[in-house]
Amino acid sequence: MNIKGQHFLTLKDYRADEIAELLDYARQLKRNFKQGQPSTLMDGKMMAMIFQKPSLRTRVSFETGMFQLGGSALYLGPSDIGLGARESVEDIAKVLSGQVDIIMARVFGHEIVEELAEFSSVPVINGLSDYTHPCQALADFQTIQEAGKGFEGLKLTYIGDGNNVANSLIFGGLTLGMHVFTASPEGFQVGEGVQSWAKQVSTETGGSLTVTESVEDAARGADVLYTDVWASMGQESETEARGVAFKGYTIDRRALDLAKDEAIVLHCLPAHYGDEITKEVVDSPYSRVFEQAENRLHAQKGLIALLAGNESG
Ligand code: CP
Ligand code: NVA
Repeated sequence: MNIKGQHFLTLKDYRADEIAELLDYARQLKRNFKQGQPSTLMDGKMMAMIFQKPSLRTRVSFETGMFQLGGSALYLGPSDIGLGARESVEDIAKVLSGQVDIIMARVFGHEIVEELAEFSSVPVINGLSDYTHPCQALADFQTIQEAGKGFEGLKLTYIGDGNNVANSLIFGGLTLGMHVFTASPEGFQVGEGVQSWAKQVSTETGGSLTVTESVEDAARGADVLYTDVWASMGQESETEARGVAFKGYTIDRRALDLAKDEAIVLHCLPAHYGDEITKEVVDSPYSRVFEQAENRLHAQKGLIALLAGNESG
């Protein structure tokens, strides 16, 4: 596989064998790192990290990942560059391309990462847009593998808002042959475009998407239970109304009892305990939530090195 120089905006752009190879490479880098082997894969290279929104995991994992690979990362927050306001997205992409080796951007509209990619001559990684969060899904899949589960035929149940995180799980999950179930209240289900993409892809991969309002139907027999916040970044003013609409769309003891005995629980974090998940579940032996957060580092190191790394190191 050669994905050197490519952008990483959505898992829809990647084939199953490419995702599998990315995950293998990430696992290898994780093993090397845990054994204390230094890496020079990004020696002398710089990543620009553009953030329109807050972050803990994404910022720390990309910055630490670049450091561990021998390179550096530069944080550019909302007030630093004024993306699209002080300067056009096109010009920012062109300027950064001349000075850094790889760009990561966390944005509101997905069209912003698309525009950065269009005008950048170095790889652009989507570190979350309102549409999709592909780096999160890579770490999620690595965590599922580490729990000893295969992808083909896996029942992955997402309970909650049909948002960017749900979309990434669908894009990557169906590509890898999973049966993804989403349980969301009316009006908050994954978009029509995503559902029709899923229909088309499922005929090719054997994966499937089932969209329901029923938490019970979705959770029954699940191998993986997954959830995310009810109100995403940028939707803060809807928090109260969403709290009412999503009541019951929670991974709790009852949902866990419906899943398989050996099921695991994932959450991309940050979590709102008592809303989309209970603290009891996150603290239970079923939870892989903090391994999942750690894997953001390892999965993204694999990604960075394959997109922009030195040949050896
Ligand atoms: N899961 C995730 O992307 O976390 P941050 O928003 O803290 O980066
Ligand atoms: N859906 C959430 C994910 C946070 C990692 C958001 O976009 O805020």
